[in-house]
Amino acid sequence: MPLIQPLLDGVYPTVAYGDGVFLTDSEGRRYLDGCSGAVTAGLGHALQEIVDVMAEQARRVAFSYRLQFRNQPADDLAALLEELAPGDIRWTFFVNSGSEATETAQKMAIQYWREAGRPEKTVVLSRRLSYHGITLGALSMSGHRARRSLFEPLLTPNAVVVPPYCYRCPLGKTYPECNVACADDLQQNIDRLGAEQVAAFAMEPVIGAAGGAIVPPQGYFQRIREICDRNEVLLIADEVMTAMGRTGAMFAMEHWGVEPDLIALGKGLSAGYTPLAATLASDHLVQTIRAGSGAIMSGHTYSANPLSCAVGLAVVRYVQKHDLARRAATLGPTLGERLEGLRARHPIVGDVRGLGLLWGLELVADPVTRTPFPTNARVTARLVAAAQEQGLLIYPALAGAGEGTGDAVIVAPPLTIDEAELGLLGDLLDRSLTALEDTL
Ligand SMILES: Cc1ncc(COP(=O)(O)O)c(C=O)c1O
Repeated sequence: MPLIQPLLDGVYPTVAYGDGVFLTDSEGRRYLDGCSGAVTAGLGHALQEIVDVMAEQARRVAFSYRLQFRNQPADDLAALLEELAPGDIRWTFFVNSGSEATETAQKMAIQYWREAGRPEKTVVLSRRLSYHGITLGALSMSGHRARRSLFEPLLTPNAVVVPPYCYRCPLGKTYPECNVACADDLQQNIDRLGAEQVAAFAMEPVIGAAGGAIVPPQGYFQRIREICDRNEVLLIADEVMTAMGRTGAMFAMEHWGVEPDLIALGKGLSAGYTPLAATLASDHLVQTIRAGSGAIMSGHTYSANPLSCAVGLAVVRYVQKHDLARRAATLGPTLGERLEGLRARHPIVGDVRGLGLLWGLELVADPVTRTPFPTNARVTARLVAAAQEQGLLIYPALAGAGEGTGDAVIVAPPLTIDEAELGLLGDLLDRSLTALEDTL
């Protein structure tokens, strides 16, 4: 068994093929993909239109190296992203994973300040509840204790800002009387370190893996933007999980009308058809570096390879052509209502939250006191397993109880899901919750 699996001795079915929102394993069991894998396969599986583009590009040229050639798919995809991206965001740097995208954003922020004559601005602040990726730079920004703890000596200690987590407000306040005090915690942390040290603040528009789809209240991001401007701190939006229609807009930050300086993309950018991610940067930032060293200090062998960029281009065009962002916005409330219905029926569902087709269910031992389950009860893993047994895939997440040790799952089906399939998803999740409750 030489393949290193997530759990070395775990038992996982072997996938055989996908069609639409379903995956089938080698034993012929069919699963409804209720979480698009890792909130990735936003167009569903084996879409002929994308497969054709992939084959055609592979026949032409799959790989060329960016120091030797530019290529049309990379140029076209960058141009399309410039058209779609908010505000002053104009430039794209292609990478291969969300971790590389957030880490590149971190590096670009630091490089920008150095070339702007402010080399002491090197700290990247982020939130206590966040996930920005698994490589060391991305992990440094991540407030995800389980994924950090082994490597803590190698990581920076700046994932400290409190999250906008109304179900368990870290400041013990209630919205809207709180006046989004959680956003002001960014100012307090900047003051603690000195604005002259702080290069950027990184955040997910909707907290995914570390929070189970926590959506901040209105006013939060507007305040964050003001604080960043006041302190000359760049705002990095980690849209790896949220962009390309998932939340009901091409970029989730559109919901708040707030423009970041850097955006990390991944997952939905190629919808799982190939590894592809990107860091998008504002014109101001890139022009400063252009006038200075003239090169972004980053890059990977596969950055901007023609095959991945052709697939990404086809995926983004498909999202546009079928207006999948609007579809997510339309279907989102239907899914939300169904999940709220499950909360009414299942006392272990403490909170239901989400945006578009990105939803989270927080699981609790007592819905009145919001008491979490003990960590060793492994409730998230048991619900995910119960769902898989029912033929439904859902995504395990943390929640905020005890600093990211509580239980949550994410429901985020492909944006192409239809109403009947959404109904089936609700039924299967209902049965999975009952199956779990029977064992508690
Ligand atoms: C918000 C966010 N950022 C970054 C990442 C890291 O992406 P990848 O796993 O592609 O490296 C993830 C992955 O789950 C994510 O959800």
